[in-house]
This record gives sequence, structure tokens and C-alpha cells, in this order.
Amino acid sequence: MTRTAPIGVAVIGAGMAGRSHAHAYRTAQTVFGSDAPDTRLVAVADVNETFARHTQERYGFERTETSWEAVAEADDIDAVSIVVANGLHREIAEALLASGKHVLCEKPLASSVADAKAMVDAAERAPELVTATGFSYRRAPAIAAIAEQIRSGAIGELLSFNGRYWCDYGANPDSPTSWRYTGPVGSGALADIGSHLIDTAEQLCGPIVRVTGALLPTVIKDRPVPLGAALGHAATAVSDVREPVTNDDLATFVVEFGNGGAGTFSISRVAVGHANTLGLEVFGTTGAASFDLSANAEFGFVDNGPEPATNGWRRVLVGPDHPYVAAGQSMPFAGVGHGGQDFFTYQARAFLDEIAGLSRLPRPATFADGLRNLVVEEAVIRSCQSGESVEISA
Ligand SMILES: NC(=O)c1ccc[n+]([C@@H]2O[C@H](COP(=O)([O-])OP(=O)(O)OC[C@H]3O[C@@H](n4cnc5c(N)ncnc54)[C@H](O)[C@@H]3O)[C@@H](O)[C@H]2O)c1
Repeated sequence: MTRTAPIGVAVIGAGMAGRSHAHAYRTAQTVFGSDAPDTRLVAVADVNETFARHTQERYGFERTETSWEAVAEADDIDAVSIVVANGLHREIAEALLASGKHVLCEKPLASSVADAKAMVDAAERAPELVTATGFSYRRAPAIAAIAEQIRSGAIGELLSFNGRYWCDYGANPDSPTSWRYTGPVGSGALADIGSHLIDTAEQLCGPIVRVTGALLPTVIKDRPVPLGAALGHAATAVSDVREPVTNDDLATFVVEFGNGGAGTFSISRVAVGHANTLGLEVFGTTGAASFDLSANAEFGFVDNGPEPATNGWRRVLVGPDHPYVAAGQSMPFAGVGHGGQDFFTYQARAFLDEIAGLSRLPRPATFADGLRNLVVEEAVIRSCQSGESVEISA
């Protein structure tokens, strides 16, 4: 059923990714045609009022709130992004769903499989509400283009996947501690950035059915306590007091996909010189594709099309022949380029469209997809703890 009343939107959490969600709701109406659902940008909520105010003013929301409960109780809010620390997702999502609000929750969906299951149950109790998980890289045009090629059979049967997500936000041992550095092993680099890579791998190669050889080391054992509130990975003044890091700085493991292919994963938050490097190669029987987030408007491709004398890897510039670009960019030509913020805009638009009963874009990742992702991460943790292979049902 299509909807005509404006969708009142709120963002809970005005930190690093909360700003991207606020920005995305501001721009979601400017892409994919003029029949966008009518939207009101109502509230930005954060316990840190300065952060909330900054984001509210910058992206033109009507008001700030200093608690997520105020959003849950508001009558003029219909759809909410949850963009706070992972351990808060479940409680907030359950309260929002109980108060009749559509929910787009950031990844990882929760801090445990049990919490994610409870969130899926809550979503199933409210089938009239849209629930989505923030796997924003599904909206990267180049990754979506590679997925299209794989689905069309252009690289043949899938043989292997090699993926890395390397960041350096934790590389400096004197960068401040935050919610990211506490919690059990597996809640660190694996859940924070590995969650994206695992989802991307399963989008491209199908379900992971076995994990083996996992290591989840903590290489920087303690970090200083910040003196003030820190946003995202931002540097801030620190005290002399240091607190233990309790979760993984690195995650490496090997997987088997349902079709018998193999995958290798390398994930790090302490990779000096890599601010945000998600890279991958997928090899099939007749071709291969590659992607690097630092050049996210292009991808590599090779197949058996050209004559052998001139065949080889080619650099494909993403343009209007690829997903999202023709209607999602103002200047939709190959070579113009686009950025990671566009992924959030496309994600927000898909969420709003789904609420409005429109189906122009691929559907948002569901809470069930978020749970599935945590099941794979749990298998990585169990493989690390046991030293053995861990099977996962597809
Ligand atoms: N999809 C992506 O690419 C992406 C990127 C970064 C982060 N994330 C996810 O977004 C979430 C937030 O990460 P971040 O980097 O923005 O964190 P952050 O630390 O920068 O921001 C979190 C914000 O939440 C606020 N907050 C804390 N407790 C709160 C409460 N009870 N009510 C309201 N606000 C509260 C903090 O003041 C802070 O401003 C995490 O789940 C993370 O995994 C996703």
C-alpha cells in the first residue's frame, strides 16, 4: 500500500555515522526520481547535546532530543535510524518497534546472536513496520555492479574470494579508548568492520558454510581514557589513566562457501596508513573482479572476451550502465566519481521507499540479514577459541 502522509524521521546518535544518516535523509529526496516519499526531518537525539545540536543544525532537522526515549515517545516520528554503540541497539530497537516506528539499525545489528534473535522476533511481531540493517556497502555502485556480473554468469562458477578491511583508527596506542575497545573478543575489529566484509562476501559469493583457522588477537593491550567526549575515531585529549582493551584488533580466517569455493579474510583496525581500505577480489572459472574502496567509482574486471593478445585486467569506470548511477547521481557519467556518503543516501532512500510501499531500489538488508551476519561472526569466534572448523547452516 502506498503512503501519502509525510514520514517523520529521527536519527538516534549524532556521532560519526549518525551524521551520515542525518545527511542521507536530507539528500534522499534528491535521487531516483521526483516521486520520493514526502519526508519531515524531525529530530536528532544524542546524550551529548552539543553533538545533537551540531547535526540538527547542519542537516536541517526540526529539533534535538537528549534521550532516545524521547524519540520512542514522540507522536510526530515514524522512522528512526539507530546509530549508537552496538550494545544499545537491542533495547532501543525493541522500544521503537513497540511504539510503532520503522527502524533502520546500524551494523552489527546487536552485540550478540541472542540479542539479534530477540530483535528479529520483535520485528516479526510487527510485520507492518519496516526493519532494516545498515549494510551500506550493499549500495556501493561498483560492488552492486560486480554482484550483477556474478549473477549473470559473466565470471563463471565462483572459485575464491579474497577480502580485506583494513583501518588505522586504532593504530596509535595512545588514541583514546571508547565503546569500540571494550566487550568480548569478536566485538572489536571483527564486528565493527569485519561485519561489512562478511556481508559483502555473502552478497557476492553466497552463504558461508564453514569457518576455519580464525585468529582474533588484541595487539594493543590498553588505551588512555579520554578527557572529554570523543566523536567516532577523532583524536581528543587523554588522561594518564589507561584501560584494558578487551576485544580484537585483528581478525583473520578462512571460509568455505556453499558452492564449495573458498574465501580468505583479513580485518584490522591497526593497519597503519589505511584509513578505510575495504578491498576484494572474486575469482570464477572464466573471469574475475576486484574492488578497492579508495577508488570506489571503479572496479577491475577480466574475462575471456577480448583476443588473447590484448586481454587482461581492465579498469571499469562506474557510470550510467551500472546500478544506482543513472538516477542516483546529478552528473551521471563514468569518471565523475562518487563517495561513501552516497551509499548512505541510497540506503536511506530504499528505507523510506519501503515504508511508502515503493519498490524501485533493492530492498534494505533486514534484521534477519543482521542476525545472519552475527551467526557467521560467532562461528569465527568459536573457530578461534576451539582451533577447529565450525560449520554454519546456509
Ligand atoms: N555503516 C557504516 O559504515 C558505519 C560506520 C561507522 C559506524 N557505524 C555503526 O554506527 C554505530 C555508531 O557508531 P559511531 O562511529 O557513529 O559511534 P560514535 O561513538 O561516533 O557515536 C555514538 C554517539 O552515540 C551517542 N550516545 C551514546 N549513548 C547514547 C544514548 N543512550 N542515547 C543517545 N545517544 C547516545 C554518543 O554521545 C555519540 O555521539 C555503531 O553501531 C557502528 O558500528 C556504521
